[in-house]
Amino acid sequence: MSFRTQPPAPARPNRCQLFGPGSRTELFEKMAASAADVINLDLEDSVAPSDKATARKNIIAATHDVDWGNKYLSVRINGLDTEYWYKDVVDLLENASDRLDQIMIPMVGCKEDIYAVDALVTAIEKAKGRTKPISFEVIIETAAGIAHAEEIAAASPRMQAMSLGYADYAASMGMATTGIGGTQKDYYMIDGDSTYYPDPWHYAITAIVAACRTHGVLPVDGPFGDFSDDAAYVAQAKRAATLGMVGKWAIHPKQVKLANEVYTPSAEAVTEAREILAAMEEAQKNGLGATTYKGKLIDIASMKQAAVIVRMAELAGAS
Ligand code: COA
Ligand code: MG
Repeated sequence: MSFRTQPPAPARPNRCQLFGPGSRTELFEKMAASAADVINLDLEDSVAPSDKATARKNIIAATHDVDWGNKYLSVRINGLDTEYWYKDVVDLLENASDRLDQIMIPMVGCKEDIYAVDALVTAIEKAKGRTKPISFEVIIETAAGIAHAEEIAAASPRMQAMSLGYADYAASMGMATTGIGGTQKDYYMIDGDSTYYPDPWHYAITAIVAACRTHGVLPVDGPFGDFSDDAAYVAQAKRAATLGMVGKWAIHPKQVKLANEVYTPSAEAVTEAREILAAMEEAQKNGLGATTYKGKLIDIASMKQAAVIVRMAELAGAS
């Protein structure tokens, strides 16, 4: 380990983030009753410009009137290149109840974007005597965002989570696809008679995970657009989970169960992790730094890997 140790990410379950437009109030109670760990009420792209002001009012009212249970409650504001974002922040911070946990900032491109929102939020919190600090999550969905992911993750103590926004990311990068996540038909390799479809999002996922893990932020997999294809959603979620992400968005309620299943370690995986920890503890008692488990090498790094699985299960169990 470097002299500078890796800080832990916030200790809360974040297996699924369910989105809903702030203009569709009939969805709010259904979202609150869902099995998602995080709720994202949207003011950005799923709300038409003519509905922005009403959606703000709807969301503020919902922080007072809807019973969100133990869900982490987040509101996605508009991007800093729009005329809407400052009023999203001011109206929310001045009028939402203390039930509001987090603001999601989309299209973030550099640490100064976070600085600007932080300064505004901090001033309103002081003015209004808000005692619960609002946390931040961001969406990495531009070339600038991915290039500056690390400084963005480090930009404020409010930073808790960072998601990959597939559609805007693909557009900003000039990717030749209209797909939102998943494999893409022109991204393939040929090996003899076999055609393989690797993951075109692999780099972005890994870059976000590295930035987040460096600074104690939760890395989250973004939307999967084709909500009729459960198998493809699960495949994308499993790839992202394997690479270190902690959860995935749902843009339709049917995806919540899928994300929760992928991001809750199976009983079998937890048993194996606990057995690895026990085998290593036994080895260490005997003065050994490495031993075998089911015919394979395990050592101190294996204990850290096993601890990740056990921690995921504990957080899932606490939700
Ligand atoms: N949260 C909770 N419940 C939802 C929901 C959501 N986001 N979206 C739909 N539902 C409900 C519907 O009200 C319906 O409930 P019912 O069975 O009681 O009638 C049920 O789930 C099935 O909905 P369905 O008819 O399949 O969907 P729809 O046509 O009403 O809406 C979408 C489909 C994709 C437009 C809608 O799910 C949606 O707006 N998703 C979020 C979009 C978003 O926030 N995007 C921004 C982030 S990318
Ligand atoms: Mg976007």
